[in-house]
Amino acid sequence: MKRIVITGACGQIAYSLIFKIANGDLFGQEEIALHLLEVKEMENAMHGLLMEIEDCCFPLLKEVKAGFDPLEMFNDVDVAILVGAKPRGPGMERKDLLLDNGKIFLEQGKALNKVAKKDVKILVVGNPCNTNCLIAMHNAPNIPKENFYAMTRLDQNRAQSQLAKKASISLDKVSNVTIWGNHSTTQVPDFMNALIDKKSVLEVIKDKQWLENTFMQVVQKRGSEIIAKRGKSSAASAAQAIVDTLKSLYTSSKKLFSLAVCSDKNSYGIKEDLIFSFPCFSLGNGRYKIIDNIKVDNFLREKITISEKELLEEKSLVKHLFPNEEVD
Ligand code: NAD
Ligand code: LMR
Repeated sequence: MKRIVITGACGQIAYSLIFKIANGDLFGQEEIALHLLEVKEMENAMHGLLMEIEDCCFPLLKEVKAGFDPLEMFNDVDVAILVGAKPRGPGMERKDLLLDNGKIFLEQGKALNKVAKKDVKILVVGNPCNTNCLIAMHNAPNIPKENFYAMTRLDQNRAQSQLAKKASISLDKVSNVTIWGNHSTTQVPDFMNALIDKKSVLEVIKDKQWLENTFMQVVQKRGSEIIAKRGKSSAASAAQAIVDTLKSLYTSSKKLFSLAVCSDKNSYGIKEDLIFSFPCFSLGNGRYKIIDNIKVDNFLREKITISEKELLEEKSLVKHLFPNEEVD
């Protein structure tokens, strides 16, 4: 049985995610125990949510716990999906959330360190997800660093979709789409190494101008475009990307997928101790390996360096949320 905690359980992403996971969309026929963490103010909404879960009669869902104390909700979990955090509104950047949301990940990192299974896998979704993940990782020294990841799969899915649309080809023919760096507007959607029908994207979509400008910007700004139209940030597509991420991580395969992970000892020269999105493949059971032979030309390198710089700046803003002995 997989014991999974979802934070921000009464929020809009969780409203899609919980029902997908309870239905078996993530772990197939494996039985599930769900722990749902919220803030006390959401008590009433939580009652309503629990009623709806009950009314679905999910056969695989063997246990549901709901509560407001991370120490209770993180107890003995195999997988932690950290969604609970403020979303941005129109005109904001994700990093504007850092000072408010960062504190949540300090508390939750500590709690996971104390009570989760030692091999718990932690996916951070709450924004700015890379740096929130770094905060949680620093506050959980007993959990291996490689068990922490932040989500850039939504960006990968967006990029794949845009390439398929432009090439007028079905989605499954587009592969090897990598997102480098931060889940922010500096992210680098890599079309150079992507494949369409096993051919280089540049061979199929001959319009380099479109790829270097329109394509990259559409993906980088998709989150804020959705906020501008919906008045709320993406939710169903984020829930789908969470399922896609964890499904990839739990299914051993050489297939490339994007994941923001600890940059220690990476082969691309990115500074260590960042949560940085790289092309990865899955070793199964929540384990991954960064693919280290992807070609990075000058165009990509320049863009990747900008995203790296942004992550270093974000890190410098949250140093006070790392344990005392680490502050320099
Ligand atoms: P939402 O406001 O609908 O829900 C967030 C929920 O989290 C709320 O119910 C709130 O009460 C709860 N919450 C706040 N603090 C909490 C805490 N300390 N513990 C537990 N729960 C807490 O927001 P949403 O649309 O579900 O988005 C959640 C986060 O995910 C936002 O930060 C958003 O920006 C981010 N997001 C990330 C991606 C990504 O690709 N990485 C995609 C979409 C959204
Ligand atoms: C997204 O990419 O849709 C999310 O990170 C939400 C946002 O703030 O853009």
